[in-house]
Amino acid sequence: MRGQQLREAGRAALVALVAGAAITGMIAVASGSSGDPAASGGGALKSVAEFRSIAATDARSRALFTEAARVITDPRCMNCHPATRSPTQGDDLHPHMPPIQASESGMGVAGLNCHSCHRFENTTLPGTRVGSVPGAEQWLLAPASMAWQGLTLGEICRQIKDPARNGGRSLADILKHMGTDHLVGWAWHPGAGREPAPGTQEAFGALIEAWIATGAHCPS
Ligand code: HEC
Ligand code: HEC
Repeated sequence: MRGQQLREAGRAALVALVAGAAITGMIAVASGSSGDPAASGGGALKSVAEFRSIAATDARSRALFTEAARVITDPRCMNCHPATRSPTQGDDLHPHMPPIQASESGMGVAGLNCHSCHRFENTTLPGTRVGSVPGAEQWLLAPASMAWQGLTLGEICRQIKDPARNGGRSLADILKHMGTDHLVGWAWHPGAGREPAPGTQEAFGALIEAWIATGAHCPS
């Protein structure tokens, strides 16, 4: 019962938010894409084969990571890996509306947590400027140790490799997460009103696999 009430409260908060935003124009005009990966605004990713001409293994490894980082630094990923405990929104990484504190749980406070508004799937909001509320199972903010906004590519790369900050993952675990995790995969199916990340999750996973196979070197 309590869960149901919270969901109803969240739904009411969401409807109020979207109505308010539509009136005041606080939420940016949706950019036309319906979230169809074929219409990816970020374009295709280079294939692993295109890096074979780089003879030195460490240079090839860094080039592979730099290409994969077109996904990692895409707003769809960055908005959930912010510098503070508050998510950001849109292609310009503006503060989340309404302001949300994810706290240490990544989920926010009881009564208005992420799942008050974010469901297990994208929720289309026809006739609004938002287009849809993004959704995927267990929608929550990345832990503070995995903050990427404001870091250089080299710093992000070293964070991803560091088990003390990456959730105790080996490189094999990182490959599995990048290549198959459904929260990562949401970035290519972000719902109406949002541009998907470049390429496909499969092409991204192949770049990460090749980066690891060449020694997982990081840009400086
Ligand atoms: C009151 C409702 C509400 C709550 C609570 C809420 N969100 Fe949102 N969130 C939204 C709406 C609506 C959007 C879409 C806005 C837009 O696209 O302009 C959104 C968008 C986002 C985005 C942007 C996606 C992108 O790439 O543009 C992220 C990230 C996000 N929320 C994370 C969270 C997290 C994490 C929590 C919990 C800690 C949370 N939100 C709680 C309503 C909410
Ligand atoms: C809805 C929020 C959300 C989105 C969107 C999201 N992440 Fe995450 N990410 C998380 C959470 C939460 C964790 C922690 C999960 C865990 O440790 O099991 C995480 C952890 C990770 C990790 C683990 C290791 C580390 O060092 O950071 C990687 C890698 C990662 N995400 C990559 C991505 C990529 C790439 C994208 C975009 C294609 C992405 N994420 C989009 C929430 C998100």
